[in-house]
Amino acid sequence: MAFWFDLHRSHSLQVLVFLVFLVCLSFGIVDSEDGATLLEIKKSFRDVDNVLYDWTDSPSSDYCVWRGVMCDNVTFNVIALNLSGLNLDGEISPSMGDLKSLLSVDLRGNCLSGQIPDEIGDCSALKSLDLSFNALNGDIPFSISKLKQLEYLILKNNQLIGLIPSTLSQIPNLKIL
Ligand SMILES: *[C@@H]1O[C@H](CO)[C@@H](O)[C@H](O)[C@H]1NC(C)=O
Ligand SMILES: *[C@@H]1O[C@H](CO)[C@@H](O)[C@H](O)[C@H]1NC(C)=O
Repeated sequence: MAFWFDLHRSHSLQVLVFLVFLVCLSFGIVDSEDGATLLEIKKSFRDVDNVLYDWTDSPSSDYCVWRGVMCDNVTFNVIALNLSGLNLDGEISPSMGDLKSLLSVDLRGNCLSGQIPDEIGDCSALKSLDLSFNALNGDIPFSISKLKQLEYLILKNNQLIGLIPSTLSQIPNLKIL
């Protein structure tokens, strides 16, 4: 009798562990690394007005509801980042290139300086990139030519030097504003 009871109980435990695993999976807890990437990106900003206070690494914090972040509702990958007009200082992190599902980046109207990182060319799905009205300097990276889906590239009102790379003309639907 005791034997059957033990067998039954250990079986229930296995089922429970499996169910917990399924629940974690369905909530994306064991899924994407985009949350960690966003925290890397935050490190190179100087968040003067603390507008990114909800970007924290607490385990209960879901990065898909962080300010300015939009996720795909199936994969939980970040598809859009809109941090326009938030008085952000500092630089654009090369980690941006790790957000491979990004379709749109809007950092318009901040105080960002430094160079546009080459890694932006790794965001291969990017359709719209607006970095206008900042204090970015240096060259426009050639790597932007790799963004074949790009439709809008808006860089005006920065301190960028040098020419717009001629290779950008190979992007079929691109409008440079
Ligand atoms: C997921 O998003 C798409 C559009 O991006 C929308 O059409 C669809 O209804 C959404 N699905 C759910 C379950 O919210
Ligand atoms: C980003 O947010 C601002 C302010 O809400 C809005 O005006 C702008 O259109 C948004 N950018 C994109 C690319 O959706």
